[in-house]
Amino acid sequence: MRSTSRLVVAGLVIGVGLAVASPSFAQATGANIWAKGGCADCHGNLAAGDGDPAYPQGPNLRRTALQRADLREAIACGRPGTDMPYHAAGAYTAATPCFGITAGVPPATRKGGALSVQDLDTLVEFLLTSVKGQARITRANCALFNGGDLEAPACAEFPR
Ligand code: HEC
Repeated sequence: MRSTSRLVVAGLVIGVGLAVASPSFAQATGANIWAKGGCADCHGNLAAGDGDPAYPQGPNLRRTALQRADLREAIACGRPGTDMPYHAAGAYTAATPCFGITAGVPPATRKGGALSVQDLDTLVEFLLTSVKGQARITRANCALFNGGDLEAPACAEFPR
């Protein structure tokens, strides 16, 4: 009984902690999806277009002109005929049409990792709040991609 109530208290403390920390928590989650989704391979660790030379080069997303819906579509559906892969689970089916296509993935369309609707939304939100329009990278912005660590070696070159 006593240990059960301790557990409940611990759960409450953790729950409240997460709620208080939610803005940065949401951003960290977006950055995690960025890293785990393989976006960094082509677009660079900080989405600035300086990806791994072993992969096709993706553009600098800090300079994208796309609004929310087109940004989401590019990520979910990819760009047929280019190196931009699709990432929505079930893309190009009736459940998740892409460019009006429901009959399956068109030829020359690259496949990326399958992201859930929620992961896609979180990633798009992260790109809109922390990447698009931020061509000049600050230490704090770099830290978002490095677990929130302002002292991360990868961020040392950026101004505070
Ligand atoms: C294999 C390389 C590769 C990977 C992996 C990749 N991209 Fe791309 N991405 C590209 C290329 C190349 C383009 C340019 C496509 C074109 O010519 O229209 C692009 C275009 C985009 C665009 C459109 C930009 C604009 O302004 O038109 C967005 C947004 C984007 N990528 C986001 C992402 C995200 C988010 C991920 C990870 C979930 C990702 N990409 C993974 C290569 C890649």
